[in-house]
Amino acid sequence: MKVCRTSDELADLGALRDERPLVLVPTMGALHEGHLSLVRLGRKIGPVVVSIFVNPTQFGEGEDFEAYPRDLDGDLAMLESQEVNAVFTPGMAEMYGNAGEVTVLPGSRAQGLCGGDRPGHFTGVLTVVAKLFGAVRPDVAVFGRKDAQQCLVIAQMVEDLKIPVALVDGPTFREPDGLALSSRNRYLDTGDRVRGLCLFRALTAGRKLLVGGERRSNTIVTAMLEELAVADQVEYAEVRRVPGLEIEENVTGRTLLAVAARVGPARLIDNFVLDVSDKEVTDDILLAAPESLGSP
Ligand code: PAJ
Repeated sequence: MKVCRTSDELADLGALRDERPLVLVPTMGALHEGHLSLVRLGRKIGPVVVSIFVNPTQFGEGEDFEAYPRDLDGDLAMLESQEVNAVFTPGMAEMYGNAGEVTVLPGSRAQGLCGGDRPGHFTGVLTVVAKLFGAVRPDVAVFGRKDAQQCLVIAQMVEDLKIPVALVDGPTFREPDGLALSSRNRYLDTGDRVRGLCLFRALTAGRKLLVGGERRSNTIVTAMLEELAVADQVEYAEVRRVPGLEIEENVTGRTLLAVAARVGPARLIDNFVLDVSDKEVTDDILLAAPESLGSP
């Protein structure tokens, strides 16, 4: 496994670049099984480069940038065991050294949800992802469905800026009881860990109503909020359309149920992506399925 600290070192990936499609899995490190599930998905597509960079520009003021967990040695050991081909671990100077003035402004999909209370968050995400795409030049990039809005905001950038990369979303990796894995789960004590399940319960309650035939968004939001009542602070509970993230009075077609809440010291998010027809409710995806990617 090659570890590259600069774009120049990456440019020199040699044979890896010929063995296409080259796959990028961007992360901020503190890796867990959720990240590794994306790596495994990527390995089925082609050689994998994982990037590890805690991106300061996507953290708001007062958020946990300084405290964000960092464990590069542990991360590298985990990636080695997954037979990752290369790891890109740029420093601040590499990513933001050259003046760092140009940024990427997100489109309409960044409004509300994780973009609402965090102005500049998705500008930070898009700017760093564009830099990573430029440095690694992947054919395919894999993102986690857990950050659904992030997936859709990045897809809009790729489409609008005509960036030649195919995007795949991997399923949300959960603990057996339903809690979505997150680097921030390590902030939870035993009591918080139990309360943290309220996000999964809220989404399950929303889905159950839809399966029972309910189509009014308000009713579904109210049911999700009831489950979230044990959290310390609810950031949002929403029903949105996929892929545009519009808010509609009635649910129909591809739909995102999305929740975010503070539990103890952690800000947790989770979602279900569903396809809702008159008769049935099925699980859906946000971007492309890996099987749909033809060889370039
Ligand atoms: P990070 O939070 O480290 O997540 C890296 C990738 O792992 C993201 O695509 C995220 O959606 C995915 N992921 C996190 N938890 C997951 C889980 N339980 N199951 C499946 N996938 C999961 O997201 C970021 O970093 C950053 O915003 C980044 C895209 C790297 C830009 O800085």
